[in-house]
Amino acid sequence: ASEAKAGTSAFDFTEIEAGVDETHHVAEGYDANVLIRWGDKVFADSPDFNPMNQTPEAQERQFGYNCDYIGFVPIEGSNEHGLLFNNHEYTNAELMFPGLATIGKDDEGKDKVIIGEITEDMVNIEMAAHGGTVIEIRKVDGKWEPVLDGAMNRRISANTEMTLSGPVAGHERVKTNADPDGTKVFGTFNNCAGGVTPWGTYLMAEENFHGYFLGTLPEGHREAKNHERYGVPSGWYNWGKYHDRFDVSKDPNEANRFGWIVEVDPSDPNSIPKKRTALGRCKHEGAESVVNGDGRVVFYCGDDERFDYIYKFVTSGTFNEGDMPSNADLLDEGTLYVAKFNEDGTVDWMPIVHGEGPLTAENGFESQADVLIETRIAADLLGATKMDRPEDVQPNAQTGKVYAMLTNNTRRKEGDENPANPRANNAFGHIIEIIEPDGDFAATKSTWEILLKCGDPSIADVGATFSAATTENGWFGMPDNAAVDADGRLWVATDGNSGKKTGRTDGLWAVDTEGEARGTSKLFFRVPIGAEMCGPLFTPDGETAFLAVQHPGDEGLSTFENPTTRWPDFDESLPVRPSVVTVTKQGGGKIG
Ligand code: FEO
Ligand code: CA
Ligand code: CA
Ligand code: CA
Repeated sequence: ASEAKAGTSAFDFTEIEAGVDETHHVAEGYDANVLIRWGDKVFADSPDFNPMNQTPEAQERQFGYNCDYIGFVPIEGSNEHGLLFNNHEYTNAELMFPGLATIGKDDEGKDKVIIGEITEDMVNIEMAAHGGTVIEIRKVDGKWEPVLDGAMNRRISANTEMTLSGPVAGHERVKTNADPDGTKVFGTFNNCAGGVTPWGTYLMAEENFHGYFLGTLPEGHREAKNHERYGVPSGWYNWGKYHDRFDVSKDPNEANRFGWIVEVDPSDPNSIPKKRTALGRCKHEGAESVVNGDGRVVFYCGDDERFDYIYKFVTSGTFNEGDMPSNADLLDEGTLYVAKFNEDGTVDWMPIVHGEGPLTAENGFESQADVLIETRIAADLLGATKMDRPEDVQPNAQTGKVYAMLTNNTRRKEGDENPANPRANNAFGHIIEIIEPDGDFAATKSTWEILLKCGDPSIADVGATFSAATTENGWFGMPDNAAVDADGRLWVATDGNSGKKTGRTDGLWAVDTEGEARGTSKLFFRVPIGAEMCGPLFTPDGETAFLAVQHPGDEGLSTFENPTTRWPDFDESLPVRPSVVTVTKQGGGKIG
């Protein structure tokens, strides 16, 4: 039976074996080449990477750390020449900086990595290593390479000047010591996934922004409830020790200027990125979009926290392909909705609009700006469905279906399940398929079903639902990013599998969604130890896959001096380095 089912699969590559080792693996017949690594030049005059003598100035001109989202915009319609967008989500100090981390003991006497004092210089390097990169790339003799003198190349960091745009711009609650007008923000950070708009701009989603703030809010401060709902401050980073704006006792409103979707116009490397507040404020995973039949553009966003929500934003205006500049501010006006998944298989998309339902002054919302700054609290009041960490939400323009990755939630207790999040202690996550009625992505009533409950199907207690044709290599846990290729096929990248938890690394899986093979998954690519798999993205012709290998070596007792892998260089004089990889088929042709 399994052979018959496999025969109907939309994919015909031979899957690789799951496992853990120091390097990456791709299916036979494909090449996987490193395109660009942390520290590589982004400009012809960038300094060479010198891991023993890093500086903030050099890092601002070099490829950042922890590559996550990948976008690609063809130049003149080419599938072999274009602009690559890449987010640099966060930094691993213990793997970045020489002499910082050592192996010591935890309270129980077990070995652990001890991180020393993060200096001001290290903080400034970290700030420069966050954000994103726009870089021209080209295929030369069958192999992709960066074009270092590309006129559009730019680095965006935690220092880049940006504008607050949309309903929150200029509001009292986004005014700070440095910006009494509440419109000018410096930087973006923890940009996880993102999107490319139909008009070719680059969207960077601000995810775990709370981790960059420290300090204590003044007693009785107006932002107390808001900050608490978003986990501000969390003090994961020491930035607030050297930069007052990241200390909530000194600048209580700065945190309200993060948690947005940032739009970058790549056609001008000096353009000022805009934080599009109409899309709401949360721990945004990404913002993937589709042009609806009526020309409005629909963006899907997950808020990646346990028990948080799935959103969609529908523009008021319509996309005009023949007049690209007319699309420039489409993201400033529209309706933000939050999803309520019902037991009868329907979804209600509930508008998050000031004055409607509970979103009134009695509940603390004086305006739409208040509603958007506290999007989560507004969605709480509307009774949205509490999800198992919503990650990428990927529409398929060809089928009218939308795939939501729910990565995991081990804090969901028995009795707290709901129809769309049916497993307590959900260690491996699941994927929900939303069906937009008659392909109307702007619909306010849709239907849904669960495509896959993830995890090892050979362990009955896990309750995974991969098809019987899925092999022991083909199952996965912790879905995070997803892509739909030129043929409308679904690919899923994972974050959280590890040698310790599952005996396998993260990777890229091809997942059948249609016909008899629905629910069949096959392993195409896997990352080195400690990494998560990000991207993925296919060129419009389906012949190149761009993949991001994030935080390689981040497992086990791993430090700058003694990492658990030195991928991708395997050179004792170089640290392990997060890198973007291109995959192409030997002899040409579509991937998969
Ligand atoms: Fe940064 Fe939600 O993964
Ligand atoms: Ca992610
Ligand atoms: Ca995606
Ligand atoms: Ca993740």
